[in-house]
Amino acid sequence: MEILELIRSRRSVRSYLPKKITQKQIKKILEAARWAPSGLNNQPWRFIVITSEEQKKEIKNFTSDSHIIEEAPCLIVVFLDKKSSYNRTKDLMAIGACIQNMLLEAHSLSLGTCWLGEILNRREEVEKKLGVTEQYEMVAAVALGYPTDEVRESSRLNLEELILKEI
Ligand SMILES: Cc1cc2nc3c(=O)[nH]c(=O)nc-3n(C[C@H](O)[C@H](O)[C@H](O)COP(=O)(O)O)c2cc1C
Repeated sequence: MEILELIRSRRSVRSYLPKKITQKQIKKILEAARWAPSGLNNQPWRFIVITSEEQKKEIKNFTSDSHIIEEAPCLIVVFLDKKSSYNRTKDLMAIGACIQNMLLEAHSLSLGTCWLGEILNRREEVEKKLGVTEQYEMVAAVALGYPTDEVRESSRLNLEELILKEI
């Protein structure tokens, strides 16, 4: 698929088939993540990959998106490694690029994802449950799995509304 078509056809997936995804698929998605750009090439992203039902159950109660986590066969929790961080704004932007790479690679593999931010409202509790030290700050979680055939629509502002000036 052409890259623009891949970008445009990706949708947030909030319901998943009860079908496991493979280690190979997960590795490919993390490979895409790993090749995101970052300031000074500091690569401030770190991941915890959760496929165990037991672990997902532990996490899902910390968010109103619990149904998404419950259905998704995999949850990738994304962290900022504060030790490798040099500029918080730039590092968070780099992690955003890293997450978008993951979403697009998953989409190219016909898998669905949902970028979960609501879970950050209880960030410290989730970090504690996952047993990470203060070095790591959770910045998002990505639900991953085979999408159901539910219709998903989305829209964007027109380009004319986004360009402030052409000079
Ligand atoms: C930073 C960020 C946080 C988000 N948090 C959530 C979330 O907590 N729950 C959720 O269901 N979707 C979440 N989303 C997905 C957005 O709702 C979704 O991308 C947006 O509505 C556009 O829909 P689309 O991805 O299908 O094009 C988040 C997306 C981003 C980029």
